[in-house]
Amino acid sequence: MLVEGKPYRTIWLKPGDPGCVQIIDQRALPHALVVEDLRSLDDAIRAIRDMHVRGAPLIGATAAWGLYLAVIESERGNNDLEHLQREADRLKAARPTAVNLDWAISRVMSRLGSTDSSFSATARSEAEAIVEEDVEICRMIGVHGLSLIEGITTRKPDKPVNILTHCNAGWLATVDWGTATSPIYHAHAQGIPVHVWVDETRPRNQGASLTAWELGEQGIAHTVIVDNAGGHLMQKGEVDLVIVGSDRTTRNGDVANKIGTYLKALAAKDTGVPFYVALPSPTIDWEITDGCRQIPIEERPAEEVTHISGYLEQGGVAAVRLTPPTSRAANPAFDVTQARLVTGLITERGICEAS
Ligand code: MRU
Repeated sequence: MLVEGKPYRTIWLKPGDPGCVQIIDQRALPHALVVEDLRSLDDAIRAIRDMHVRGAPLIGATAAWGLYLAVIESERGNNDLEHLQREADRLKAARPTAVNLDWAISRVMSRLGSTDSSFSATARSEAEAIVEEDVEICRMIGVHGLSLIEGITTRKPDKPVNILTHCNAGWLATVDWGTATSPIYHAHAQGIPVHVWVDETRPRNQGASLTAWELGEQGIAHTVIVDNAGGHLMQKGEVDLVIVGSDRTTRNGDVANKIGTYLKALAAKDTGVPFYVALPSPTIDWEITDGCRQIPIEERPAEEVTHISGYLEQGGVAAVRLTPPTSRAANPAFDVTQARLVTGLITERGICEAS
């Protein structure tokens, strides 16, 4: 998508330097666009764990490129599959909830296990395939999800379609297009007036800092709201549709997504607002059927709750404490919305029931 009118992706191999993968360091957004070099598996692990990159599909793509970097490192020394499997296991531990991490690693490892070509060429071509597929999958999610927005706009012509989203399931969370945002970008390109309610998404504020930024760069009308405002806006008829992303969706349609998603789904159910989840098929975990019991929920550092950082008007970024120094804080990063609360799943193959 566009940054200052120029097309970008979130991850790419540095031109002319096959030992370097480049990412947008999302910690600096929306205040600065910082491109970071990853040159080792440890760089990739740090980028995922410390959220330089985040969002389930992009975590998967970064893991695939991270394994490619591990292969390059090991070709200078220890070039065997068992060593790479140990490296893959370290990578898998970087973040627990998004199943795309496991999926991408298993895919690259299984190609390495069956190839006659060089490991580096194989890992590179698999990482490139994962990235290109993600772009096409997200584009198709937009093509299918567009029909929902078209249906609403025919019922209220000349008025904007109001869509609420939580966290960032935009192009920054994928390689391009995004999942929840892809139908919005497609609708905007068709000239359909859309307006997005952007949940700020405490504690990491992915909505306020990332979704708002990327929507603004594409010229899409949006309003940032505090996380607790969504239910009120739904009661007032100010939300036509909710679209969120997913970090892991079970075989029966339970959805893990950023903490607070469940409360939005409850409010949507109570007020009759359609609640859709946009997800690429690699986000489906076919092995499990009970999201609340079986999906591992990441617990992140308490400092993300006790402190908040922001841009100083005179320049620079500062962190300040919000809580009394002696108060404890808990920070579960995701929650599970049961299938019964989900109106439908928007995938690259079409829209289906959460079942
Ligand atoms: O902690 P994050 O920022 O990685 O969480 C991201 C989300 O919860 C997204 O909604 C999800 O990964 C879907 S991304 C298309």
